[in-house]
Amino acid sequence: MSQHLTIVDHPLVQHKLSLMRERDTPTAVFRQLLHEITQLLAYEITREMPMTTKPIVTPMEPMEAPTLAGRKLALVSILRAGNGMLDGVLELIPLARVGFVGLYRDEETLKPVQYYFKVPEKLEDRLVIAVDPMLATGNSSVAAIDLLKNAGAKNIRFLCLLAAPEGVARMQEAHPDVPIVTAALDRGLNEKGYIMPGLGDAGDRMFGTK
Ligand code: URA
Repeated sequence: MSQHLTIVDHPLVQHKLSLMRERDTPTAVFRQLLHEITQLLAYEITREMPMTTKPIVTPMEPMEAPTLAGRKLALVSILRAGNGMLDGVLELIPLARVGFVGLYRDEETLKPVQYYFKVPEKLEDRLVIAVDPMLATGNSSVAAIDLLKNAGAKNIRFLCLLAAPEGVARMQEAHPDVPIVTAALDRGLNEKGYIMPGLGDAGDRMFGTK
């Protein structure tokens, strides 16, 4: 992808996002909407996946048919909220391998602390799509991408639902080679590192933990 930041302003994405933002949207509906938006965003982030052709035979005649080049996608969920985006992408690309990066945010320092890391082998040969709904301070996203690069990944994209300008700037500075696809770029962060107007804590809202 040529652009560092892509905002998907498709009407369906924007409508579903507004429903997700509403305080009173129930957990199950929030989760379903995230699933649906993720599929629409995944369509955009995979737009430039490498293609090849293979010979097939239609009922009419043989042809060289377009097909994805290889089975080389790794989808990496940044725990825990990233898990809410996994199934949406996997439904579109069932052969993707899946990895997990466990980072939690220290509420005092807002800095990421790693507690889990398990990713598919041969990361260097794969297109890696890291998923996390909220790009807020960018601290955990930058740390997750650092870990993926240390594990060999060279071709990484970042898929999120909402981004703050602070997080985008931090990613641009640390990882200018990692394109970001999001549904919206919000106003900014509050003093606790939450995106404003945002949608609150994505993990709590999708898992009903608060
Ligand atoms: N993580 C969230 O879940 N929400 C925010 O607003 C910021 C970080």
